[in-house]
Amino acid sequence: TAKLGILISGRGSNMQSIVAAAGDAYEVVVVASDRPAAPGLAWALEHGIPTFALAPKDVGKQAYEAALDAALRAAGAEYLALAGYMRLLSDEFVAKWRDRIVNIHPSLLPKYKGLDTHARAIAAGDAVAGCSVHVVTEELDAGAVLAQAEVPILPDDTKDALAARVLAEEHRLYPRVLAKWLNR
Ligand code: GAR
Repeated sequence: TAKLGILISGRGSNMQSIVAAAGDAYEVVVVASDRPAAPGLAWALEHGIPTFALAPKDVGKQAYEAALDAALRAAGAEYLALAGYMRLLSDEFVAKWRDRIVNIHPSLLPKYKGLDTHARAIAAGDAVAGCSVHVVTEELDAGAVLAQAEVPILPDDTKDALAARVLAEEHRLYPRVLAKWLNR
């Protein structure tokens, strides 16, 4: 069984769907966050999953990433799933986990890398939006796409309504892709 670490910065709803779907496909061995107050951390603790949290600004980015890397390895993590982790990992960190980090991004990549994806899709007049699971490389949101799910953009859609529609697909897509990718 592949041992998976999850990195979060906030709510952690994708983390929850990944944990819920674990079964034989993978085991979630640690949840780590760059925000000690992330609500998802409390959920992980309540569910008996080891956690790690450290604010980069308290120790500097290098020391933060060194401590993160050490905690993930100490927990036995072999692969990492970014789930609403809102910080760019350094080239050095990515190199240490080469081809062992995946991310979910709320757009149909290569469209709308970065932030504010839903507002940008609506403003562009797109008919569809969605989410992508991709391999993490040094370049933001640019690694190989493993799978995508699409949702329609409705007339008079708001970015919040669209985000909720996409998020429901994220929760379905991410655990499925992880199970496949970790057992490929
Ligand atoms: C999700 O929509 C995820 O795709 C997005 O943040 C949200 C996190 O929600 N990720 C990014 O924008 C990454 N740049 P969650 O904490 O409830 O999973």
